[in-house]
Amino acid sequence: MNDRIDDQINDRVSRTIVILGGTGPAGTGLALRWVSAGENVIIGSRDAARAQQTAEKIRQHAGANAQVSGMENSAACAASDLLVLTVPFASQAELLKQLKPAIRAGSILIDATVPLAASVGGRASRTLGVWQGSAAQQTAELVPKGVSVAAAFQNVSADVLNSDKNESVDCDVIVCSDDPNATQIAMELAAKIAGVRAIDGGKLENARIVEQITALLIGLNIRHKGHGGIRITGLPDGAYKTKNS
Ligand SMILES: NC(=O)c1ccc[n+]([C@@H]2O[C@H](COP(=O)([O-])OP(=O)(O)OC[C@H]3O[C@@H](n4cnc5c(N)ncnc54)[C@H](OP(=O)(O)O)[C@@H]3O)[C@@H](O)[C@H]2O)c1
Repeated sequence: MNDRIDDQINDRVSRTIVILGGTGPAGTGLALRWVSAGENVIIGSRDAARAQQTAEKIRQHAGANAQVSGMENSAACAASDLLVLTVPFASQAELLKQLKPAIRAGSILIDATVPLAASVGGRASRTLGVWQGSAAQQTAELVPKGVSVAAAFQNVSADVLNSDKNESVDCDVIVCSDDPNATQIAMELAAKIAGVRAIDGGKLENARIVEQITALLIGLNIRHKGHGGIRITGLPDGAYKTKNS
């Protein structure tokens, strides 16, 4: 029975992960960690050649066996039903509208977008008000019906992800979604990153709070010249999903 559950989980995680806007530091860092953990990743970009160049850089960093390729964003959406969105907030809505016809029915989209004021020329330590409540809820409004959205990875520093791939990442990832299956898959992906503990953060609307924490972290990192992340303490062991649990 337990073997069957393990097999189902392995099947889910072994799906190809498409990272839309994967040429930036956030997408590149996540891709590096996932390919280093044996996952298959497609880097998405507005420009197929840029996506391929980024994939090649990741392969050089991760090792020759890394399963990573690059495609234009819509072609990448058509290639998998597991999508991760890492674009600046200012381009999130426009890109999702453009990609809507290419996103496969039943896909899961994991959104790492933070509505930083910096994306419209303001400060990185401030966030913008989003009518829907959060960047992730805006995404949920824009994806085709039947596509599940989870919010995750907003608090993990790209600098840390892109540093030594063998060094563990000192940060928890809070996953918020209205779909338990999307939560489960996002938690499994987060736990693939050494050092990360994934925590079920409840409904998608809680992404608003998680997104705000990123602005605070950026302010702290500027003030103290560091790469701070978050750790949630005191929960029962079962609340934390890690590489080994
Ligand atoms: N950087 C971090 O430490 C970090 C940590 C957690 C979360 N985040 C969040 O993750 C997202 C990405 O962060 P990032 O630092 O990687 O951002 P970024 O470098 O500014 O952008 C990422 C990619 O988005 C694509 N993009 C830019 N403008 C676009 C447009 N108008 N339309 C379509 N695609 C566009 C670009 O890819 P192409 O030009 O190749 O299409 C770019 O390489 C942001 O929402 C950020 O708040 C960042």
